[in-house]
Amino acid sequence: MSIGTPTGAFPGTRMRRNRRDAWTRRLNAENTLTVDDLIWPIFVREGSGQTTDVASMPGVVRVTLDRLAGHVEQAAALGIPAIALFPMTPPELKDAEGTEALNPQNLMCRAARLLKREFPELGLVGDVALDPYTDHGHDGVIRETRAGDYVHNDESVAVLVRQAVNQAEAGIDVIAPSDMMDGRVAAIRAGLDEAGLIDTRIMSYAAKYASAFYGPFRDAVGSGKALRGDKKTYQMDPANSDEALREVALDLAEGADMVMVKPGMPYLDIIRRVKDRFGVPTFAYQVSGEYAMIMAAVRNGWLEHERAMLESLLGFKRAGANGVLTYFALEAARLLRARS
Ligand code: PBG
Repeated sequence: MSIGTPTGAFPGTRMRRNRRDAWTRRLNAENTLTVDDLIWPIFVREGSGQTTDVASMPGVVRVTLDRLAGHVEQAAALGIPAIALFPMTPPELKDAEGTEALNPQNLMCRAARLLKREFPELGLVGDVALDPYTDHGHDGVIRETRAGDYVHNDESVAVLVRQAVNQAEAGIDVIAPSDMMDGRVAAIRAGLDEAGLIDTRIMSYAAKYASAFYGPFRDAVGSGKALRGDKKTYQMDPANSDEALREVALDLAEGADMVMVKPGMPYLDIIRRVKDRFGVPTFAYQVSGEYAMIMAAVRNGWLEHERAMLESLLGFKRAGANGVLTYFALEAARLLRARS
């Protein structure tokens, strides 16, 4: 029966009957959020014995490596399938070319090795883009053209491939290119295969928009103040949706195993279109600004924390997402476990 088929009219049909009791509401629920849907982004920093707050993301911290296992243990104990690592690179290690991204001993690689050893069953997602490592805050390398500075596509891709292999060799299971350079997925796949890393998965940030909602993240990794200009020449225009389908089609053709739409809540329509069109594992990133927005209202007493959080996450499932990268992952998993 299609949704358009008349099922009878009032008073024979009363839509409220099924909503009357909790047990019918549970039986009729079309979507559910579970711990298996969650990926927890984690910020790591240099130093020891320190956990620092991210001011614009209440409840989110950056941890030093000696505290990382304890931090991540919380997620592992709850059965969260994967975490995503983001390093805060000390300013003195940043340069125009993002060289530190290629250092096998960089913060990210040390974190990955440590976590793979402590939690072999936990999936590790590694963001591939140069912005945590460049002094200009862009995701690739900048070359001067006649028209001025430009984030150079092909030269950036060459560095990103090496960054991806560096991370995978340190134990990252899922390479997540978030840079939006053209052709990077195919190049990274070839680079990984050449290094014998044939099982390293690629979750491409296929449709990543030039969004205002990344601000708090850039504070968290310290790339915000540094950023020269904006990222509109490589990240997508928020006005576009057909273009997202082309981006996804290309990334799949290039070998992406999973695709991501980012940000999340303002782009649920994109998730639905991607899922309907391609039927592939599709993820959403509920980004820092979305988290900040909800938490700001919670802190003011304007929204109920647990309800707003879970409703926002369920929306991703309804839109067709297989899972969500969210800063709420730990709290949501705790609640979901307590209920089941
Ligand atoms: C790096 C990257 C960004 C985010 C994830 N990876 C920032 C950006 O593109 O400027 C944002 C995540 C968030 O806001 O939570 N390319």
